[in-house]
Amino acid sequence: MLTLDAVSLFYGPIQAVSEATITVGEGQVVAIVGANGAGKSTLLKAIAGLALPRSGQIRFRGEDITQLAAHKRVKAGIALSPEGRQVFPDQSVRDNLELGAYSRKLSTVDLTRAIDAQFDMFPRLAERRSQPAVTLSGGEQQMLAIARALMGEPKLLLMDEPSLGLAPLIIKEIFATIRRLRDAGMTILLVEQMANLALAVADRAYVLETGRIVLSGTGQEMLQNARVRAAYLGGGH
Ligand SMILES: Nc1ncnc2c1ncn2[C@@H]1O[C@H](COP(=O)(O)OP(=O)(O)OP(=O)(O)O)[C@@H](O)[C@H]1O
Ligand SMILES: [Mg+2]
Repeated sequence: MLTLDAVSLFYGPIQAVSEATITVGEGQVVAIVGANGAGKSTLLKAIAGLALPRSGQIRFRGEDITQLAAHKRVKAGIALSPEGRQVFPDQSVRDNLELGAYSRKLSTVDLTRAIDAQFDMFPRLAERRSQPAVTLSGGEQQMLAIARALMGEPKLLLMDEPSLGLAPLIIKEIFATIRRLRDAGMTILLVEQMANLALAVADRAYVLETGRIVLSGTGQEMLQNARVRAAYLGGGH
């Protein structure tokens, strides 16, 4: 579904990603793990069209999208649930969801149906549908950010640190949601610092260190890898 071939990205003179090659198959959950500043968000931005590679190629469902505008990628089926759960604070939960379907130009009936589907998936959001997003808890805002991304009916969901800043119980819920999406056939590229949880849910995983992919394999292989355990799993729990 998605391939990155030797993709490099720079911020001015600073290289953030060096010749990253990544493959995501249809229906797979693929995880990218790495420390702060490794280039994980930059990679997702490149796939969403929010940062342009200096070199390399990005292909999505057979098409070269390396230079495609971000809004055209949304139309093609790529959705980003960004780092730091960027919901529209003053808009209600329902309006946030509606904005997520903006590019689909749905009829009122279809829009209501699509919103109700998200409320089925996230009952807490249903209870809070009229509240401004800013009044939601951190975990609820993360759910809203995911639900809003899903409103575009993406074929590929990019998730940037969905667990960031959340309590353990909420993190469990978020990962249960990721599993449900996977079971429903969604293709997900997941960036996480909670490496143990991400690797446990991932079909494949890549380890990114200072912009370079240094390891890849199945989620299970990465969980058992000595280097991964030492660097990202707190020395082998
Ligand atoms: N807008 C920017 N301008 C300049 N440098 C940037 C910019 N955004 C990111 N960088 C730099 O690029 C590198 C990669 O950043 P990126 O946000 O991709 O890392 P990350 O792996 O997502 O980190 P974190 O786990 O902290 O979210 C870092 O060194 C960062 O300082
Ligand atoms: Mg990041």
